[in-house]
Amino acid sequence: MKKRFCLIYVLALTTVYMPGCRKKTPKEPEVKPEVKEAIPMSANEEAFGQTPDGRQVVLYTLINSNGLKARITNYGAILVSLEVPDRTGRLADVTLGFDSLDGYLKGPPYHPYFGATVGRYANRIGKAQFTLDGVVYKLATNDGENHLHGGIKGFDKVVWKAEDVRAESQKALLKMSYISEDGEEGYPGNMACTVTYTLTKDNELKISYEAETDKATILNLTNHSYFNLAGQGTGDILGHELTLNADKYTPVDEGLIPTGEIKIVTDSPMDFTSSMSIGSRIKQVEGGYDHNYVLNSGGGVLALCAEVYEPTSGRVMTIHTTEPGVQLYTGNFLDGTLKGKSGRVYKQHYAFCLETQHFPDSPNKPNFPTVVLQPGQKYRSETVYKFSTR
Ligand code: GLA
Repeated sequence: MKKRFCLIYVLALTTVYMPGCRKKTPKEPEVKPEVKEAIPMSANEEAFGQTPDGRQVVLYTLINSNGLKARITNYGAILVSLEVPDRTGRLADVTLGFDSLDGYLKGPPYHPYFGATVGRYANRIGKAQFTLDGVVYKLATNDGENHLHGGIKGFDKVVWKAEDVRAESQKALLKMSYISEDGEEGYPGNMACTVTYTLTKDNELKISYEAETDKATILNLTNHSYFNLAGQGTGDILGHELTLNADKYTPVDEGLIPTGEIKIVTDSPMDFTSSMSIGSRIKQVEGGYDHNYVLNSGGGVLALCAEVYEPTSGRVMTIHTTEPGVQLYTGNFLDGTLKGKSGRVYKQHYAFCLETQHFPDSPNKPNFPTVVLQPGQKYRSETVYKFSTR
């Protein structure tokens, strides 16, 4: 049961975030706050269960003044649900997942990274090894001979520490941290990471990552949410209309490892440079889409990545990211065997993922943007998912 937002908390927030407290220049006209801004947002927490080694796991709820609601757990820093309005204002949960911690604890393939924070290295590293400063590092193998999504116990399977939970008039946020030890899953260096989920009054879900290391290492963090903008578990996503701000992609071999080539999408089923339904050419792509696109922005600045429109609900999701790439994955391995939220069954193509990232196997591809983090450097990455309707 959802905890009630207590009145004292409401009053306290209303007092602290009164317009008078905001910085103003002398010329700035008196701005009357709109009703929606006057409603404070909440950040609630409740018990979500326990890991097999007895660690308590919490479920946090961020709500904005338009009713947008994100539930996040500190197990795997997973986005458990995301409720957004359709064109009539009706809310639906647009992400796949489980109602309780148990489903998440089962891990892959049962739980294929639903909503998870993936690290240290999202996506694949060929033959689970790389060389850095002349040293060969062998990583855990968990995808045939390759390393996938951080290995056997990646960031999606650890308990993160909640550092900051806040509800303000403009935003609600949850910041979580994790320290990955030197040698974890084969990676060098002690690495301190944070992930911050922020819900804004403009119906954006922002996910920002920061990391530091004490030894040269590699990393690539992403969120692995499975979206269905018609509502989770309601059907396939083949009618969703997708635009990607990407003229190129990285072709892969049979193990889904990039060949190193960067190829133009023109005149191929890979082309989403203008709006196309995901299903229109999916049969021409063996196994469905599971490819990294090279974003036109080149990364490094927050820039347009993708837009997805679902015609029946009118929901639109626009993604901006600082990352140079995005993995389009169309839920090819979902096979209807697992029971998701509200008992829903998830069949093939019942969701799509747009995992903002550096390119797969970058540590072994000198022509791809670097994923090396040096001591003294700060890794920063941000992706913003904005919801609207048409
Ligand atoms: C990523 C990969 C896919 C698959 C899913 C999880 O998107 O690219 O091949 O492993 O994660 O099932």
